[in-house]
Amino acid sequence: MTQIIDGKKISQEIKDELKEKVAAYKANGKEISLAVILVGNDPASQVYVGNKKKACEYIGIKSLSYELPEETSEEELLKLIDKLNNDPSVNGILVQLPLPGAIDEEKVLNAISPLKDVDGFHPMNVGALCIGKEGFVSCTPAGIIELLKRSGVEIAGKECVVVGRSNIVGKPMSLLLLRENGTVTVAHSKTRDLKEVTKRADILVVAIGKPKFITAEYVKDGAVVIDVGIHRNEDKKLCGDVDYESVAPKCSAITPVPGGVGPMTIAMLMNNCIHSVELNK
Ligand code: GUN
Repeated sequence: MTQIIDGKKISQEIKDELKEKVAAYKANGKEISLAVILVGNDPASQVYVGNKKKACEYIGIKSLSYELPEETSEEELLKLIDKLNNDPSVNGILVQLPLPGAIDEEKVLNAISPLKDVDGFHPMNVGALCIGKEGFVSCTPAGIIELLKRSGVEIAGKECVVVGRSNIVGKPMSLLLLRENGTVTVAHSKTRDLKEVTKRADILVVAIGKPKFITAEYVKDGAVVIDVGIHRNEDKKLCGDVDYESVAPKCSAITPVPGGVGPMTIAMLMNNCIHSVELNK
């Protein structure tokens, strides 16, 4: 029987644990706050930001909302970040991506204090992860580690294959699996004979951004398959990077889309906001 890894349920458990932690901080007079900055009117970003604010409300974290017009200059945005960096009542700063074309995304992300970088995108935090030091970890890969652990999947000693090498998912994912003592391979668009590589995986994490790309012949019998993709197919139904129908019967465990990895990202963002208090002590 294939275990369906229920990200919705696990993320709810995490949010309830965090809610208790936040209440304990509040009882000691400490309020936790997250500044959320959205520039422009991208509809998907508006939905994501709305969901982040809702999660804050549920957990008891104060969200400070900065919704700036499309024409906002890089200088204005950097000024706001500087103000928030220096405000001791702000624990976390999140700039929703993508930013309008006229703004240099890298410059903006690098301007966020590494001690308030709850997305874990700052090079200092990426570097800390790389050398095993404490810092903020990118939310989606951190959520995947939680999913695996809370589903009873052992990582140590396992063959882990990550398909995709983005800065937000693939690269930090590979570092986290390595930190958990997995044997890690990172495959990508230039990998020769991808099937031969993915078939080695005991744990296969797929983040390539191509709908239903990974079919049964890419997967070893009994593998654990984690699907990071999210797409809308021709009949407007959500699907992942993995062809769930053909792959699921072969696996020991698999994440569905929706309801697998997706809900974990926000839960880990909330976790990072609380972690920020400890880091800034
Ligand atoms: N846009 C899409 N995903 C993310 C994310 O995880 N963080 C931020 N800041 N922007 C995003």
